[in-house]
Amino acid sequence: MRIECRDLNVRFGAQTVLDAVGIDASDFRAVALIGPSGAGKSTLLRVLGGLLAPDAGEVRIDGQRVDFSERALLAHRRGVGFVFQTRGLFPHLTAEQNIALPLVHVHGQSPEQARETAHALLARFSLDQDAHKRPYELSGGQNQRIGIARAIAPRPRLLLLDEPTSALDPELTAEVLDMIHELQADGQRMVIVTHEMGFARRACDQALFLADGRILEAGASADLFSRPRTPQLQGFLRKVLEWVP
Ligand SMILES: Nc1ncnc2c1ncn2[C@@H]1O[C@H](COP(=O)(O)OP(=O)(O)OP(=O)(O)O)[C@@H](O)[C@H]1O
Ligand SMILES: [Mg+2]
Repeated sequence: MRIECRDLNVRFGAQTVLDAVGIDASDFRAVALIGPSGAGKSTLLRVLGGLLAPDAGEVRIDGQRVDFSERALLAHRRGVGFVFQTRGLFPHLTAEQNIALPLVHVHGQSPEQARETAHALLARFSLDQDAHKRPYELSGGQNQRIGIARAIAPRPRLLLLDEPTSALDPELTAEVLDMIHELQADGQRMVIVTHEMGFARRACDQALFLADGRILEAGASADLFSRPRTPQLQGFLRKVLEWVP
């Protein structure tokens, strides 16, 4: 898969949040998107997923230009899975319904087919005993894993994850990261915004460093982490790795 962005600009009022962002990531398994708070990471992810149209610039996925007109975006969004930080699940639906109903209503599957897919995914990730629980009856880690199962159920070509573990304690974080890692091994292409630097470094083959709305470094994550070139990335890594053993 190849993701290209050229001169992407996003403004909110007077504030420029993405400033001439250029990306060319190809042949990746997983891209880690890292950078300080307020850098524009979530905004960039929303543009890639077609949830937000940029004010200028273009995005190409596998060479095909994303058409940001409302009509065309629906099709683009169907090919992308989204996982957010928290509270992604519909609170009034069970785990199984959370996975199955979008397959029926957004992806046009039959209810039987959708239920089967949901069952298979819940079983695969050892969540079958939670199928009939609602989000408030599940732990934070279970919530996130079901959210991930829901995102991959329609077999998206690209999975976008926005800090999927930031609301979790370390043990649950490990569970969720294990699941994401398993999906990578399975060939699921993804871009993940994460503050888990160990995961970004070891589980993601490429990385992008975004600061103040600009991509300051991009490349193999091993290189970014071991040989940061810009003072901004050097400073960022010093800060986030300070207490990492
Ligand atoms: N809908 C919006 N309206 C106005 N300003 C926004 C909107 N969304 C984001 N911003 C602003 O854009 C900037 C970038 O926000 P964004 O959420 O993309 O940052 P981030 O890198 O994801 O930060 P964090 O690590 O804290 O999640 C911030 O200054 C934020 O206040
Ligand atoms: Mg964010």
